[in-house]
Amino acid sequence: MRIILLGPPGAGKGTQAVQIAQTASIPHISTGDILRANVKAGTELGTEAKRYMDAGELVPDDVIVGMVGDRLDEDDAAHGFLFDGFPRTVPQAESLEALLVDRGTPLDVVLRLAVPQEEVVERLTGRRTCSQCGRIFHMVFDPPTTEGRCDDCEGSLTQRDDDTEDVVLNRLDVYRAQTEPLENFYWERGLLRDVEAVGDVSDVQARIQAVLQEYGQS
Ligand code: AP5
Ligand code: MG
Repeated sequence: MRIILLGPPGAGKGTQAVQIAQTASIPHISTGDILRANVKAGTELGTEAKRYMDAGELVPDDVIVGMVGDRLDEDDAAHGFLFDGFPRTVPQAESLEALLVDRGTPLDVVLRLAVPQEEVVERLTGRRTCSQCGRIFHMVFDPPTTEGRCDDCEGSLTQRDDDTEDVVLNRLDVYRAQTEPLENFYWERGLLRDVEAVGDVSDVQARIQAVLQEYGQS
């Protein structure tokens, strides 16, 4: 399966991606996670990306497309992938399309996670992420058993630098202006499927799996 998870900041892309990738045996490729790993490691790419990320702006397309091309060359992406947070602009979607045509491996489906703006702000300002394994929590909706500690690996939970309310609101504006046009881009290609992303995480997961079953994925 070659799948894109599309949706605004806080829609639950990262939360849902873990299970989808596991069920479909494909790698979960999050451009945001790759960029944050570069920031943490202090690479040149990370240093360049950080100023955009902290402001809630998009990192330039050429940087992202080069990064994704390298990631797709890795062995685990040979039989499929789940993109989370990519593509984010029409030029990125066009570059991906060209790349996949070259490889003869077209996309199967684009899942759009729909969630109202008010809920997104609450989700993001309360999000905490494990600094070791990356597991995502929420202070209210999905709290850890021990405050500040990951249930899986006991790593310390941290808040993302771009999860302050003002940056979240800018990320939502950027999404509307630069990423929403992709809904039409993929609708025109017959690839877009909507998934209601409110309610329990497990209910959203079940809706996603119901759609994927239509594509032969259980
Ligand atoms: P990125 O990391 O991609 O962030 P994003 O798209 O803004 O999305 P988030 O990760 O914030 O939200 P999510 O949908 O994954 O939600 P999550 O599952 O965590 O990008 C960050 C930055 O990197 C960008 O601003 C940009 O600068 C740069 N970047 C990345 N990719 C780029 C690209 N392609 N081009 C250019 N720049 C790029 O859930 C959020 C919270 O909600 C969690 O606390 C979770 O527990 C909770 N939650 C999840 N589901 C539910 C539910 N059903 N009910 C209640 N709570 C829930
Ligand atoms: Mg995410």
